[in-house]
Amino acid sequence: MSRTAVIAGVGPGLGASLAHRFDAEGCSVGLFARSSAYIDLLAEELDDAVAAAVDVGDSEAVARGFETVREALGPVDVLVFNASAAA
Ligand SMILES: NC(=O)c1ccc[n+]([C@@H]2O[C@H](COP(=O)([O-])OP(=O)(O)OC[C@H]3O[C@@H](n4cnc5c(N)ncnc54)[C@H](OP(=O)(O)O)[C@@H]3O)[C@@H](O)[C@H]2O)c1
Repeated sequence: MSRTAVIAGVGPGLGASLAHRFDAEGCSVGLFARSSAYIDLLAEELDDAVAAAVDVGDSEAVARGFETVREALGPVDVLVFNASAAA
């Protein structure tokens, strides 16, 4: 059964690696980041993915992001919180 994973905080490092791994496992993937340029490109590379510009510190934006994912991909099964700034 296909599952849907959301990765909250996606850049070219760990977030992208997780997205590719979930994709390779046959999952649909929701991608959150504050800036949309990178996640829009990454979503195009994946089989079944949607990107949403979300600041995880903004609860209304988070709710809208999950609504975007549910509408595009169905119910969310997995959430990975990866939002961070490089040390
Ligand atoms: N990369 C590695 O090899 C590695 C190894 C061990 C541990 N880690 C740890 O794993 C974590 C992530 O590492 P990474 O830098 O490789 O990840 P990454 O997926 O390259 O980047 C994380 C992304 O989180 C987003 N983000 C930051 N604040 C956010 C917010 N408020 N709301 C939404 N998105 C937000 C940023 O994009 P926006 O600025 O567009 O929002 C950023 O591109 C860090 O804590 C790091 O120390 C990484």
